[in-house]
Amino acid sequence: MNKKTILVTGGAGFIGSHVVRRLVTRYPDYTIVNLDKLTYAGNLENISDIENKPNYKFVKGDIVDADFIQELFSREKLTDVIHLAAESHVDRSISNPLEFIRTNILGTVNLLNAAKFSWNCRLGTESSDTESPRRNLFYHISTDEVYGSLGPSGLFTENSPYDPHSPYSASKASSDHLVRAYADTFGLPAVISNCSNNYGPFQFPEKLIPLALNNIRQNKPIPIYGKGENIRDWLFVEDHTLAIDLIFHKGKRSETYNIGGHNEWKNIDLILLLCGIMDRHLKRTAGTSEKLITYVTDRSGHDLRYAIDSSKIDRELGWKPSVKFEEGLEKTVRWYLDNESWLSNITTGNYKMYYEKQYANR
Ligand SMILES: NC(=O)c1ccc[n+]([C@@H]2O[C@H](COP(=O)([O-])OP(=O)(O)OC[C@H]3O[C@@H](n4cnc5c(N)ncnc54)[C@H](O)[C@@H]3O)[C@@H](O)[C@H]2O)c1
Repeated sequence: MNKKTILVTGGAGFIGSHVVRRLVTRYPDYTIVNLDKLTYAGNLENISDIENKPNYKFVKGDIVDADFIQELFSREKLTDVIHLAAESHVDRSISNPLEFIRTNILGTVNLLNAAKFSWNCRLGTESSDTESPRRNLFYHISTDEVYGSLGPSGLFTENSPYDPHSPYSASKASSDHLVRAYADTFGLPAVISNCSNNYGPFQFPEKLIPLALNNIRQNKPIPIYGKGENIRDWLFVEDHTLAIDLIFHKGKRSETYNIGGHNEWKNIDLILLLCGIMDRHLKRTAGTSEKLITYVTDRSGHDLRYAIDSSKIDRELGWKPSVKFEEGLEKTVRWYLDNESWLSNITTGNYKMYYEKQYANR
């Protein structure tokens, strides 16, 4: 196996922590440099189990700082990038769009510039030849939300037009376009994947499933937007992580891959299912938790339905979702209930002390 030094951005977040863990443990010849600003969403406890592995290094830093990013590329001699760092919560993008523009667009451009410079990319060089073996790769992780909203039928394919509606999805769409522009203009070896909603362990408890789970645990209201009619396609995070591993190693340069769970749920049906699982785990009478459901004013610009056609990644790379929703949800509930200290460290803010305790004096 080739030796590589891979920059994973956002590796202290939800999906990034699963990606870092997988790469560090499965590929001992790779060095994984995890770059994360540790915003409110970054939590080093998510990867505490691998922090002492010899092929792992954590760097605290901001992708918006261009000089720092350029210096990091030269210092670490990075061969590849898997870019997950982002502001990722739609509601926060409505209250503070600028932070999303900074991180998701400017931050991505800084990484692209540093990669282009370090890997000596320009049109006419070997890197613009999509057939030759690649030495470097810029892998950009994106979302199905860039495609906008579907009606009751149809699926997003890799050729669906972009039609983002929230500042979050608009900023992710911009970053996707910029990655493609750097591939086309400078021959940057790049690949993009657009994935549906993820769920599983280590998801920050402001997103639908962990928020509901945490509120049920504490007997607090479960807020549901509008009438709960919005439909999302849910994928267990470890299935996404496996797809990322496959695309990183086998994906074709300049291609896009859609990743989805073939698993559409109306928000209200999902929450009712979760309530049933929680009643059982908490030994409550069936029907207890669903009484906590509280309908709240709908999110502005709320997309009705997302659903992904992931036949391309199935056909070309042999990937399919493997975890059934009931099984994944069961695993997720068990993980959150077994890791109450992880949740309470977030609620109390103690998770923010982890960096000082473990890293600051290294
Ligand atoms: N969660 C999903 O369902 C989903 C679905 C499809 C795609 N995605 C994409 O996957 C990626 C990861 O999503 P997630 O849910 O794990 O997000 P997350 O919010 O849990 O994690 C994001 C991480 O990025 C870090 N970060 C934020 N701004 C930074 C900056 N300026 N510099 C360096 N680090 C910074 C945060 O500290 C955090 O650790 C995002 O790009 C997101 O758009 C997420």
